Amino acid sequence: MIRRTLLALALAVTAALPAQVAVKSHPAATQLASHDPWWKHGILYEIYPRSFQDTNGDGIGDINGITSRLDYIQNLGIDAIWITPMYPSPQIDFGYDIADYTAIDPQYGTMADFEHLTAEAKKRHIRVIMDYVPNHTSDQHAWFKESRSSRTNPKRNWYIWNDGIPASSPNLTKLQQDNEHVGLHGKVVPPNNWQSWFGHSAWEWDAKTQQFYYHHFYVQQPDLNWRNPEVVKAMLDVLRFWMDKGVSGFRIDAVSRLFEDPNLHDDPNLPGLNAFGDPNIVHKYTDNLPEVHDMLRRMRAVVDKYPGDPVLISEADEPNIFELAKMYGQHNDEIQLPMDFQVADINDLSVPKFRKLIDEVEHNPANGQPYFFFGNHDQDRIWDRYSVGVSDPAMKERIARIMATLLLTSRSTPQMYYGDEIGMVTSTPTRIEDVKDPVGITGWPKEKGRDGERTPMQWDSGKDAGFSTAAKTWLPIPTTYTTTNVKAESTEPDSLLNWYKRLIALRRTNPALISGDMKMIDTTNDNILAYTRTAPAGESVLVALNFTDKPQTLSVPVILSTLQTDDPRLIHASKSKFITLAPYATFIAELK
Ligand code: NOJ
Repeated sequence: MIRRTLLALALAVTAALPAQVAVKSHPAATQLASHDPWWKHGILYEIYPRSFQDTNGDGIGDINGITSRLDYIQNLGIDAIWITPMYPSPQIDFGYDIADYTAIDPQYGTMADFEHLTAEAKKRHIRVIMDYVPNHTSDQHAWFKESRSSRTNPKRNWYIWNDGIPASSPNLTKLQQDNEHVGLHGKVVPPNNWQSWFGHSAWEWDAKTQQFYYHHFYVQQPDLNWRNPEVVKAMLDVLRFWMDKGVSGFRIDAVSRLFEDPNLHDDPNLPGLNAFGDPNIVHKYTDNLPEVHDMLRRMRAVVDKYPGDPVLISEADEPNIFELAKMYGQHNDEIQLPMDFQVADINDLSVPKFRKLIDEVEHNPANGQPYFFFGNHDQDRIWDRYSVGVSDPAMKERIARIMATLLLTSRSTPQMYYGDEIGMVTSTPTRIEDVKDPVGITGWPKEKGRDGERTPMQWDSGKDAGFSTAAKTWLPIPTTYTTTNVKAESTEPDSLLNWYKRLIALRRTNPALISGDMKMIDTTNDNILAYTRTAPAGESVLVALNFTDKPQTLSVPVILSTLQTDDPRLIHASKSKFITLAPYATFIAELK
């Protein structure tokens, strides 16, 4: 039904608004930005390899699958793909538990497949960004196996080991008491109240060597000891290994967690319990320690030795703009693109929140390039996250267009997540026995895990949505695949997919969108988020997004012509002093 409504609108829009209206060619545009590194204007696309394309029929995506879809990615207008980890792994955290940093997991293919992928990507001018997971390895990594083999093993100090404290110590938390063991000198508990991000104590007892090891994430993900120079060397060598293979940079996982307080202070408590039933705490002594920045500079120095403007992207949910700005480095010598979790974590359509946080990062003290994303493999899909309480699918689709527009018309470097461009939905398991992500089992039913946003890509309406030929795919195919799929949407002029494609084409060709500044306008309006982008040579574009379910009016500068809208009444909006946007409508126009 939703597709039919859209088709009606599509016919109305496309009849009056030929496709080229959104892809006007500005020959000067590329010159304007030629001095900039590619990542300042490039569009990145996150691929979750388990779920993108399966070519060997085992129900799990693979590297050859990604290669087979490069034409699609190129056609979409993507500059770089970030592939989440595909290194050998027991797959407890679906690749974020790495057993070997410099190899390929056989379930995804071979190193030759990877080299073929990068070569084919290069032919299509698509760069490859690897996921770099420095905070922890798998407990099956050879380093950890050695480390845990004895207290005197040379790799013992590659991880964070601790004797614990006597179980008779005062002021123990329940999590400490629940983690009591018999050590060399009697009963012991973990040295402090530190908690794993995925629930419960962050200390795991190793019965053989009678010490605890620290894990910020799952028990099977012991933290590396970044205070050990041998670890630093080995991990910087990992960067070199992949740079030598021709990749264009790294997305660095959980980077703010690299260091812990050597004095093991207890983290401060907050009121209440979290989804795992543990006390809420501030991860003050295990997150964002100043030592991180020295390591970021060292990582940057490694990749900077390579040609082609390699990029570092950081995953760190910084609490405010000042912490975020620090990620760029005092001399812009750390991360070029710190992911903006401040903006990504606005989980509702709040004009004041988006305006404030976008404005903050626009004027960040480091003058660094902002980096936005609204979807990824750890959070509900865009389709659902910004439309809580909205039941009309046509309105949900408009909201998806709003978010696409905000992502692709802001000055920030945009990162897309596979499947958001077709409107894939979050498909959260309804029974605990179906959950694959361990965090969803520990946290059930309050925290159901991240399976919902990791389901297979919906390519067509055939078997397994064109993702696989397997009898059973690793996660089920959402029922929406019959209409929400690449093939169907490619032929619908007004589909979400074509909306994305037109936006991307606009972003790549319009001088204001390529290099213009970004200025919020009508800043007391709580219903419409509106801003202009103005290029150094004066070309200017207006973007207006109605964040509400009612028509809203905006006073506008002089409009030259509409560039893209899903409100048929705004196709000929030029010369208006006021425009009225339909509920959840988007309007992009060229200004005089
Ligand atoms: C962040 C990754 O995005 C997430 O998927 C993973 O579970 C944790 N880091 C631990 O590596």
